Amino acid sequence: MSKIFITRLIPDFGLNLVRESFPSLDIWFDELPPSREQLIERARGVDGLLCLLTDKIDDKVMDAIGPQLKVISSMSVGVDHIDIAAATARGIPVGNTPGVLTDATADQAFALMLSAARRIVEGERFLKAGKWVTWQPNMLLGADFSGSTLGIVGFGRIGQAIAKRAQGFDMRVLYHSPNAKSAYGAQPVDLDTLLRESDFVSINVPLTSQTKHLVNAEFLAKMKPNAVLVNTARGGVLDQNALYNALKSNKIFAAALDVTDPEPLPLDCPLLELENCIIVPHLGSASKKTRDMMSLLAAQNLIAGLNGERLTNCVNSEVYK
Ligand code: NAP
Ligand code: GLV
Repeated sequence: MSKIFITRLIPDFGLNLVRESFPSLDIWFDELPPSREQLIERARGVDGLLCLLTDKIDDKVMDAIGPQLKVISSMSVGVDHIDIAAATARGIPVGNTPGVLTDATADQAFALMLSAARRIVEGERFLKAGKWVTWQPNMLLGADFSGSTLGIVGFGRIGQAIAKRAQGFDMRVLYHSPNAKSAYGAQPVDLDTLLRESDFVSINVPLTSQTKHLVNAEFLAKMKPNAVLVNTARGGVLDQNALYNALKSNKIFAAALDVTDPEPLPLDCPLLELENCIIVPHLGSASKKTRDMMSLLAAQNLIAGLNGERLTNCVNSEVYK
């Protein structure tokens, strides 16, 4: 019987599917993820690993688990926490959960964009602090959506779903991405043009060695002073010190972050002092239906890998060549 380790309690949707075929699976039940040592101890000797984006699965972890490991299935679309080259070198397919979280994450990007532009969080703090004395013509003025330009960096599934939503706000949409795609009237441009012309900039690239700190001081300096930056990709894509300086000196209007580096963000992070920065705890895919579907895809990938079948969503399909 195959041995399985699941690194956290996942929704029953996926968990029950795995249990039907593999009743003796091992689950890490704590609220906090296993430490590296705990993960290695519990995963040693397993045939299948179902992990989350909080688990760093590198070369050494794979070695420690052992050569019998047949599949790594992550309940996430991003796989920057897994050393894909190391898995491929061992012939281990890695599964992820694309598509089912696209709409939820695009909704979150829009919610953040609107909140930052229209100063929703700041306004609520203002009210709760008893500062609202009357309606005022110049009170908490924000940025307009209608007729503005949205620049999307990384025009994949989520980037395109954001462009689709932008149509409803009569926004002009520009994008910058390696491969041209025609979707929702969005126009491909180089990065400098996108930053020069956009009132809203949405980051939707995967975290890779090429995109690490893509949003740095130089990138922010090219944005418009009225611009709003939204990051629902990965914290590592953004240099947070550079963002702090840009926001503090009003080089850009506001930022809204769903993701940070590290996660959780330490409470002494200077970004938390700023009124023009909204930060939420990585909630992009956090809807009940989305998480159910993510757990289902992760379970299907795990089971397929254990049965020696091709994973429905495999990020390193070279292993099948
Ligand atoms: P995707 O469909 O693979 O889209 C990523 C896009 O980024 C692709 O179109 C890719 O271009 C483009 N890209 C890659 N490197 C680039 C670069 N250097 N400059 C500009 N564009 C670049 O992935 P997705 O499903 O949209 O997800 C994107 C990322 O969002 C994930 O990797 C994950 O990290 C993050 N995410 C976060 C949450 C959350 O909870 N906040 C939820 C889901 C996903 P090509 O297509 O031309 O290769
Ligand atoms: C969430 O961040 C994911 O990559 O699924």
